[in-house]
Amino acid sequence: SNSSLDLFYDAVLTLTKSAGQIIREKNLERNKYVEFKKSPKDLVTETDKQVERYLIDGIAGKFPDHKFIGEESSKEIVLTDAPTWVIDPIDGTMNFVHSFPHSCISIALYVNKQPVIGIVYNPMLEQLFTARKGQGAYLNGQPIKVSQVKTLSTALLMLENWGPSPNYQLTPEVQEHLKSLSDDSHSSRCLGSAALDLCMVACGAAEAYYSYGLQVWDIAAGELIVTEAGGMVTDVNGGPLDRLAKRMLATNNKEINDALAERLVALEEKMKKKG
Ligand code: IPD
Repeated sequence: SNSSLDLFYDAVLTLTKSAGQIIREKNLERNKYVEFKKSPKDLVTETDKQVERYLIDGIAGKFPDHKFIGEESSKEIVLTDAPTWVIDPIDGTMNFVHSFPHSCISIALYVNKQPVIGIVYNPMLEQLFTARKGQGAYLNGQPIKVSQVKTLSTALLMLENWGPSPNYQLTPEVQEHLKSLSDDSHSSRCLGSAALDLCMVACGAAEAYYSYGLQVWDIAAGELIVTEAGGMVTDVNGGPLDRLAKRMLATNNKEINDALAERLVALEEKMKKKG
């Protein structure tokens, strides 16, 4: 019910804010202890693990029947209809390792496999993005809305194409696609955090974000924040979003969504033909 959702929201917001202090304090420390996951660019620090533990222990202590999917603790991802917290303890770990102040905690509650609470918190810059299903999206308590730009030619794009994704290498086709996107839009930006990229679309600072190779915890909170701010989230081909398909297109409106989906479908066709 709504009142239990409010209870969950208040408790997890408090936990997220205190977990943020751990990240803020550690962020400035040089020579952080870094381990590699799947590749030398896929990083994890002790702080990622500590923050995820802190959040899971804190939530489990209050709501013992809730489930969790966490970047650092979930070996396989099984999404059920049960209330499930989807957690990225530090989205933008590479940024955190470099003390580049754009990383965040991303935490969402899924019920029936749909997000109903989304919180993205960058403790370095004190940016707290929040959303609850049907109740709008907020930045530090102030309502936020997507931008009203309708043409790609005046859009700012959040792109992370050089991220560690086996599905998305900088082949000549991809380079051509990126060049045409850069020619045909205002410009592009890269924050190094999928969750913060999504929040830039939500608050109207950028018009679009798309990526491949995403995990469910990268997008869980940001998705709800974008839709509650009036934006759209789809598959990269413009069809319905599959939250476990590792790809997403998020935009301020249908016009920008159509324009980008068309190019991404064309790119996919080209890659297929090439085999
Ligand atoms: C990464 C960031 C990055 C995206 C990668 C993610 P992490 O998350 O969100 O922007 O391009 O695909 O893995 O590893 O820092 O939590």
